[in-house]
Amino acid sequence: MDILLLSGPNLNMLGVREPDQYGMQTLDDIVSHIIALAIDAGLSIEHHQDNSEAGLINKIHAAREQGIKYMIINPAAFTHTSIALRDAILATGITFTEVHLSNVYKREAFRQQSYFSDIAHGVISGFGAQGYEFALNAAIKHIKEH
Ligand code: DQA
Repeated sequence: MDILLLSGPNLNMLGVREPDQYGMQTLDDIVSHIIALAIDAGLSIEHHQDNSEAGLINKIHAAREQGIKYMIINPAAFTHTSIALRDAILATGITFTEVHLSNVYKREAFRQQSYFSDIAHGVISGFGAQGYEFALNAAIKHIKEH
């Protein structure tokens, strides 16, 4: 497996959840499109959504064993709270892009603090589902160059 796409808590509610903020597409819509684009680029990709911090951490640990080359992560609310998730990523040393559907810098002050941005390859915020395409392009380029 080349790429791990990880979705944090409440992202399973996309399509229903605050559509003004997050759009009308479901997580399945977004993920199936990204999987198709990755396959077109000749790369394998796995998606995992979890509402629990433990589930996400275990998946990140497993990514190391699986030889995952790049991660695309929307940590959702854990972005602003989870040192444990940050430490899990640091433990694997896997390069990743942090993605947010909404522009977190246009929102509440507590969303402007991220435990991931300073250790990410890059951060994409505010482009909705298109942000995942940008992140995938970054992943493809990174994998081909390394
Ligand atoms: C989010 C932004 C977070 O602040 C929020 O808690 C989310 C989604 C986004 O994709 O815009 O759940 O990560």
